[in-house]
Amino acid sequence: MTTVLTYGTFDLFHVGHVRLLKRISEFGDHLIVACSTDEFNALKGKKSIFSYAERAEILMSCKYVSQVIPEENWEQKIEDVKKYRVDVFAMGDDWAGKFDFLQDYTRVVYLPRTEGVSTTQVKEVVAAIRAEKKQQLVNAGEHLLSLLKEL
Ligand code: CTP
Repeated sequence: MTTVLTYGTFDLFHVGHVRLLKRISEFGDHLIVACSTDEFNALKGKKSIFSYAERAEILMSCKYVSQVIPEENWEQKIEDVKKYRVDVFAMGDDWAGKFDFLQDYTRVVYLPRTEGVSTTQVKEVVAAIRAEKKQQLVNAGEHLLSLLKEL
């Protein structure tokens, strides 16, 4: 068995996540995803929309993923690589060079990210839609008020 390991939050699961998982799964036959817990995200100053349990459930339903484990801190990687006998450690290239210290224990690869999509971008689009809806409501309210004044 060739085991591949990756780490991430994977909130609002999107096509960039799918493509990364597909490509890294091709490096082996058992893909383990270490998914950041809500507590670890809080430490990183991040707050996910979906809980750890929900993100882990979504990841497990992806056909490229064999196993999901919790990512609880920055220091666990060497232990995980040893514990799960990891042959390949893979991440998107926004992390390029950051985990080269794992080369003493396993093969480290960084793959290009999918352009034009990210969890942050999805959150921004949703926020913009909400702001637009709010403005429409304000405009409608003002219009109603002006009609009432004419009575
Ligand atoms: N990833 C990718 N292509 C994207 C977005 C993410 O290949 N368009 C990869 C990242 O490089 C990482 C993994 O997916 O290896 C998990 O990334 P994550 O940080 O959870 O997703 P992002 O969409 O980048 O989230 P955020 O905007 O919160 O940083």
